[in-house]
Amino acid sequence: MDINRRILVTGGCGFIGANFVRLLLREYPDWRVINLDKLTYAGNLQNLEGIEENDQYRFVKADICDAAAMDKLFVDEQIDSVVHFAAESHVDRSITGPAAFIQTNIVGTFTLLEAARKTWLNNSWKGNDPRFLHVSTDEVYGSLGDTGMFTETTPFDPRSPYSASKASSDHLVNAYFHTYGLPVVITNCSNNYGPYQFPEKLIPLVFHNSMNGKPLPIYGDGKYVRDWLYVEDHCEAIVEVLTKGKNGLSYNIGGNNEKQNLEVVTRICDTLDAKIGMPKSGNPRKELVIFVKDRPGHDRRYAIDASFIKDQLGWEPKVTFAAGIEKTVDWYLANQDWVASVVDGSYQKYYETMYG
Ligand code: NAD
Ligand code: TYD
Repeated sequence: MDINRRILVTGGCGFIGANFVRLLLREYPDWRVINLDKLTYAGNLQNLEGIEENDQYRFVKADICDAAAMDKLFVDEQIDSVVHFAAESHVDRSITGPAAFIQTNIVGTFTLLEAARKTWLNNSWKGNDPRFLHVSTDEVYGSLGDTGMFTETTPFDPRSPYSASKASSDHLVNAYFHTYGLPVVITNCSNNYGPYQFPEKLIPLVFHNSMNGKPLPIYGDGKYVRDWLYVEDHCEAIVEVLTKGKNGLSYNIGGNNEKQNLEVVTRICDTLDAKIGMPKSGNPRKELVIFVKDRPGHDRRYAIDASFIKDQLGWEPKVTFAAGIEKTVDWYLANQDWVASVVDGSYQKYYETMYG
C-alpha cells in the first residue's frame, strides 16, 4: 500500500482523539496513523477496541513532554502531519490541580513544536509538505454576556487554569509560525459531545447518574450557555483544516447550537425516559436535578461564529442537536459496559491486557 501521509495523532485514546483515529482509519486508508498517548486517567485503549496495529496504524504509549522520545518518533516515522489533541481537558480538575495542565498543555505543546521544528525545518527533510494542527478550544476567548460571538480575532481572555494553559499553547504555536515559519494551523472549537466522552463531563455524567438514580449536580443557576457540537462534526472539520487550511491561521469551529445547561440536562433525561421508560421510582429523571455550589470563575456563555471556516473551507456542522443527543444516548445505552469500566477504573488495566 502506498502511504500518502504519516500522521501523528497525540491523545488518540481520549474522547475526541479516539473518534478522530476511527474516522481516519475508516476514510483515509492511505494515511499511516501513529497514535501517541500517555494513557492518563482520560486515555482509554478500549476507545479503540477492535483496531489492530498494522501498516496503517501504530499505538505508542509516551508522554508528549518527553523530548527525546518525540524527537526520535518524528525521525523514525518520518512524521509529516501532526494533529495535537493531547491535553488535560477538564476545567474542574484544572481548578483543584493546575500543575498537570501547565505541564502537558504548555510544556508538552512546546516539546512537540520543537520536535517538528528540528525535523521539518532541516535541509535533510525529504518528506511531504508538513503541517502541524493544534487542537484548541473556544475557552481561550473568555466569557460572553448575553450577546456577541467569538470570532478568530476576538482577543484571548482565558479565566480558568485550563483555558489559560490552552491559550498559552495557542500563543506558542503562533510564535513558531511567525518566528521559524513552522507550518501550523489552529482550531478553536466549542463543547463537544458524543461517544467515548469521559463521564466527568456534563453530558456523559448526566447519562450515568440518571441511569443510576443519582443526583444531577447543576452548577449555579444552570443558565450557563455552551455551544454544543457533535464530535464527528468536529473531527471532519479538523480534516478539512489539516488538508486545506492556510498556514498561520486559526479556524473557529462551532455547532451553531447554544443551549443553557439546564436545557441540555433536561433533554438527556427526557430522551432516556422516552427510550427506556421511567425509572423504578416512577418519577421523571429530570427530578434528579439538584443545584450545587457554582464552579469558581465559571464562564457564563460561549458562542462561536463559525462563518470563517464555512466561507473558506465549506465546512459546517451536519448533525443537529436533536439527532446528536439521540445518537449519543443510544451509544451510551448500547455501551454501558464501557461506562461501568470507566467508572470503576477497570479500563486502566486494559493496557496490560493488550500490551503486557
Ligand atoms: P480527553 O481528556 O478526553 O483526552 C485527552 C487525551 O490526551 C487522553 O487520551 C490522555 O491520555 C492524553 N494525554 C494527556 N496528557 C498527555 C501527555 N502528557 N502525553 C500524551 N498524552 C496525553 O480530551 P478531549 O475532550 O478528547 O479533548 C482533546 C483536545 O481537544 C484537547 O486538546 C482539548 O483542549 C480540545 N478540545 C476539547 C473540547 C471538548 O469539548 N472536549 C472542545 C474543544 C477543544
Ligand atoms: P463541562 O462538560 O465540564 O465543559 P466546560 O466546562 O469545558 O464547558 O461543563 C459544561 C457546562 O456544564 C459548564 O457550564 C459547567 C456545567 N456543569 C454542571 O453544571 N454540572 C456538572 O456536574 C458538570 C461536570 C458541568
